[in-house]
Amino acid sequence: MGLRIKPELRDLEVYKPGKPIEEVQRELGLGEVVKLASNENPFGPSPRALEALREALPRVNRYPDGSCYYLRKRLSEKLGVGEDRLIFGNGSDELIVMAIRAFADEGDEVLTASPTFLIYRIAARAEGLALREVPLRDYRYDLEAMASLIGPRTRLIFISNPNNPTGTYVSRGEVERFLDSVPGDCLVFFDEAYFEYAYEEGGDYPDSLRYQDRGNVITARTFSKIHGLAGLRIGYAVSSPEVIELMNKVREPFNVNSLAQAAALAALDDEGYLRWVREMTEAGKRQLYRGLEGMGVKYVPSAANFILIELGPRAREICDELLRAGVVVRYMGAWGLPRHARVTIGRREENEAFLRALEAAMRRIGA
Ligand SMILES: Cc1ncc(COP(=O)(O)O)c(C=O)c1O
Repeated sequence: MGLRIKPELRDLEVYKPGKPIEEVQRELGLGEVVKLASNENPFGPSPRALEALREALPRVNRYPDGSCYYLRKRLSEKLGVGEDRLIFGNGSDELIVMAIRAFADEGDEVLTASPTFLIYRIAARAEGLALREVPLRDYRYDLEAMASLIGPRTRLIFISNPNNPTGTYVSRGEVERFLDSVPGDCLVFFDEAYFEYAYEEGGDYPDSLRYQDRGNVITARTFSKIHGLAGLRIGYAVSSPEVIELMNKVREPFNVNSLAQAAALAALDDEGYLRWVREMTEAGKRQLYRGLEGMGVKYVPSAANFILIELGPRAREICDELLRAGVVVRYMGAWGLPRHARVTIGRREENEAFLRALEAAMRRIGA
């Protein structure tokens, strides 16, 4: 008897993450591999998080605390939001899926941009929802065009701010005008995975926590990026107590493991480490900009820890060539950007290795 396939899954592509370092080493028989493909923090987790992990390790025979009690308390103080306004996820990926499952039903529509973080599309399609993707304008979310497309069945709007893969952001003014045009029964999900890289006191990058009073705003952040804990899988969302309660109804009881909770709690307060990572990332960004300009490679100025670069019609071949040289970047064909690649800002020597390999690849390919 043949397998019965749910129609919404029939044409859905499986998400392909950046290749793990070990896989590239195995496949190509390489020793050293520089991975700049998944916007991870290349500087490692904070020493305080490592210490907390060592302490928590002997207790992994116990189920984790499903409510994330200590982390919730500390984060609530730190963000100045009530504990009942917080929910934790197995990475912010899971928060995206939970929001869709909690709020969108058959016939409802999810609105986002394109290209943007692919999980919005995959999660919406897997639930059989209608999906509307509004093209970016000059590599940025076009909030005006998105506002004009909100319909009676639009339940959820995803805004990656800064946007992955372009590194651009929408400003406070743009966001405020946009929110004024969103009906109260439609939720706006601000995915701020790169918040800590983008935010500047007094700058025009918006902190969407300021809009929580509107009642239809979800702010999602992660410990995977600047906090350096991608492998542990933990993120959080802030919203109204009503929204959080509904998301809790679709949450698996032990979705966030105990090691992730312990490490996140320690990482949260390691301000010195976070500042250092941000400074190193800024320095790496300047290094990459200089190197790319030297080669005449165009790039999109970024507010995050990655840069979208334009390599031209032979971008795919150049990325393959980089891979053979042991440098993994992300070719952007699957995002509808066949002339582009996205490169994560690495450590100084990794950035150097990337720039050297890129120059050699372009020379070889004649691009
Ligand atoms: C915009 C955006 N949102 C969410 C995520 C997922 O993060 P997490 O590791 O918390 O699931 C990423 C990871 O690359 C991202 O770029």
